[in-house]
Amino acid sequence: MSKAIQAVRGMNDLLPDVVERWQRIEAIARDVWHAYGYREIRLPILEKSELFARSIGNETDIVEKEMYSFEDRSGENLTLRPEGTAGCVRAGIENGFLHNQIQRLWYAGPMFRHERPQKGRYRQFHQIGVEAFGIESADLDAELIMMCARLWTALGLEGLTLQLNSLGTLESRIVYRRELLRYLETQRDQLDDDSLRRLDKNPLRILDSKNPEMQKIIAAAPSLYDHLDDVSREHFARLGEYLRHAGIPFTVNPRLVRGLDYYTRTVFEWTTERLGAQSTVCAGGRYDGLVEQLGGKAAPAAGFAMGMERLVDLLTQQTQPYTEVRPHVYLALLGDAAEMQGLVLAEQLRDAGLRIECNCGGGGLKAQLKRADRSGAHFALLLGEQEAGSASVNVKDLRGSGTQVQVAQNELVDYLKQRTGRGEIS
Ligand code: HAM
Repeated sequence: MSKAIQAVRGMNDLLPDVVERWQRIEAIARDVWHAYGYREIRLPILEKSELFARSIGNETDIVEKEMYSFEDRSGENLTLRPEGTAGCVRAGIENGFLHNQIQRLWYAGPMFRHERPQKGRYRQFHQIGVEAFGIESADLDAELIMMCARLWTALGLEGLTLQLNSLGTLESRIVYRRELLRYLETQRDQLDDDSLRRLDKNPLRILDSKNPEMQKIIAAAPSLYDHLDDVSREHFARLGEYLRHAGIPFTVNPRLVRGLDYYTRTVFEWTTERLGAQSTVCAGGRYDGLVEQLGGKAAPAAGFAMGMERLVDLLTQQTQPYTEVRPHVYLALLGDAAEMQGLVLAEQLRDAGLRIECNCGGGGLKAQLKRADRSGAHFALLLGEQEAGSASVNVKDLRGSGTQVQVAQNELVDYLKQRTGRGEIS
């Protein structure tokens, strides 16, 4: 026997039981986004590599070491999208729906980053994201955060906390960066390898270091907040007021800098202590400079994205009930005449809104009942030669009493619906 081929490392199969959990979350999220006037956009998974270099930033971990990039057969440099914001902005500029317009959009789908796989961190993962264009004021930032909070409630999720920071404008950040560099240079011999690597390219990311030995140096670093321009400071204060008024608790984390370069002003993360190291479930912020940076007419923008795998993990831990898609009825068919009649009978039951799994491929009664049981159906319908002759079926209750009653085929829909009404079928 030849060796079986395995999936690519860090890329997971989602089996039906898990998919059903995902579908439930996706459906609830969609309803929440729609309640705020956000509309779905579907974007290509492949984009030109340059798009991500120009938006996420050449000096970020994502662009430097995590992208799945390749040359296609026409020699074009392409990348499997590592996130959704860049593509959304690209599409907005290309289709002309950003200039002087307010747009509220959401998307969902796979993203790709060549990271070291571990629990909660994969090479193909899935995001649900939201992007809003054309609104500069902090009420939009508040709305985005309130949408997240509403989703957590709708999903029954607990234990998520919100951290906020403001990165100011690009200009104020340049001033801060200079100041930070000056300080970090004085600490150079105490910096770890990661920080030394970031020192020249992206010193702000040093603030995000998780190394305990770096914490003292970071704590004594000049504060980004002290270097904020007045307008950004006011914008941030206003956001705080909106959130307090809406009853959404948050903490300001002056060290929150995010791993993508396009952010300006507000950045935020929702984290949990229940997922170990990969604790950020949702993250986002404002990126007022990105549309212009990618060649469009300047337009303010903000958004967020959440990791589906992490959301599902968290929900599974909290053992939320969810409805699986199981057939109401398994239709067992014995003999030629029954098989002939059965496929049509199944269609009639489906017309009435019931989910039917039909026994295809024959087999004896025992084998078919075993399959019926495994299907998770509430009832088995037994249709043999005799029932086919008398246009009836035997209805066997597989979950409750185990009883079996004979019902005429033309009364079957009413009979099953009546039992549905009694809550025996969901
Ligand atoms: P991000 O922080 O890179 O932001 O990713 C957002 C979320 O995606 C993370 O908080 C995490 O839940 C999930 N995620 C990221 N990488 C992985 C991975 N390797 N495995 C599993 N889950 C992962 C963005 O992508 C921005 N585009 C968010 C945004 C939208 N900002 C403004 N608009």
